[in-house]
Amino acid sequence: MNTAKDISQLYNSLFELEAKFKKEAVYPIHKQLHFSERFSDIYEFLVSKVDCKGKTILDAGCGVGFGSFLFVKNQAKEVVGISVSIREIERANEIKTKLKIENCQFQLASFDEISTSFDLIFCVESLKHSLDIQKSFTTLLDALTPNGQLVIVDDFFDGHENTISQQLKENWHLNSLISENDIQIDDANFSISSEDLTPFMRLKSLFKIYTQRLFFRLFKKNSPYKKLFKGGVLLDHLYTKKQMKYKLLIITKNR
Ligand SMILES: C[S@@+](CC[C@H](N)C(=O)[O-])C[C@H]1O[C@@H](n2cnc3c(N)ncnc32)[C@H](O)[C@@H]1O
Repeated sequence: MNTAKDISQLYNSLFELEAKFKKEAVYPIHKQLHFSERFSDIYEFLVSKVDCKGKTILDAGCGVGFGSFLFVKNQAKEVVGISVSIREIERANEIKTKLKIENCQFQLASFDEISTSFDLIFCVESLKHSLDIQKSFTTLLDALTPNGQLVIVDDFFDGHENTISQQLKENWHLNSLISENDIQIDDANFSISSEDLTPFMRLKSLFKIYTQRLFFRLFKKNSPYKKLFKGGVLLDHLYTKKQMKYKLLIITKNR
């Protein structure tokens, strides 16, 4: 069974790896999409759809703060970024101090334990790491203020369990793959909208995927970097096989 420690280690390892190659202090840790010329990034797309002005915002699974800083720039009242990776939180806090940003704080915390309410909660590619998706989803909904919105962007599994999906779970320590059925609510207080963003992705060819999968045989069996890369390629493989969809779900609390 996967544990919270497995997820923290996965993202601490990713940080160590990214820090070697990425020059920018704050960088996105999510898929690159190809929107029109108006947007180059999913968070930019989100702030064009959801008004941040004057809102209290939780960036649940904030990475090194890329989205949190964008919310501040878009006139959020207060932003809290949380992550289970100490390395990510340290980096986010360093940048915050450097930029002298007051209304943003970063904490090593899990979205399974939220003690305050927020007008907006964003989960960008983070909810799939939940050890119990239904439980986390309920906790996140409970943390919304009246008229608040929970914005989820993630890889939604749209196929039947197979060797690729099983290996993806093993490599990324996922207890399950998130599906749209996990995000159903039988409560008139909430409304859900769903948008498929997969058409904005550039899918990899099977040739490229198989070549990359061969390359990973060179890594040591239990290397954390191998797990990270291999998980990424397995995810790409599921997209190419049309068994994964990149979706945006917005859940609004009606009162
Ligand atoms: C793929 S990264 C996305 C980071 C950021 N949202 C972005 O798009 O740049 C997933 C993030 O979710 C965080 N995460 C995973 N499980 C979490 C949990 N239970 N509570 C809070 N954060 C979590 C990881 O530490 C990581 O920061």
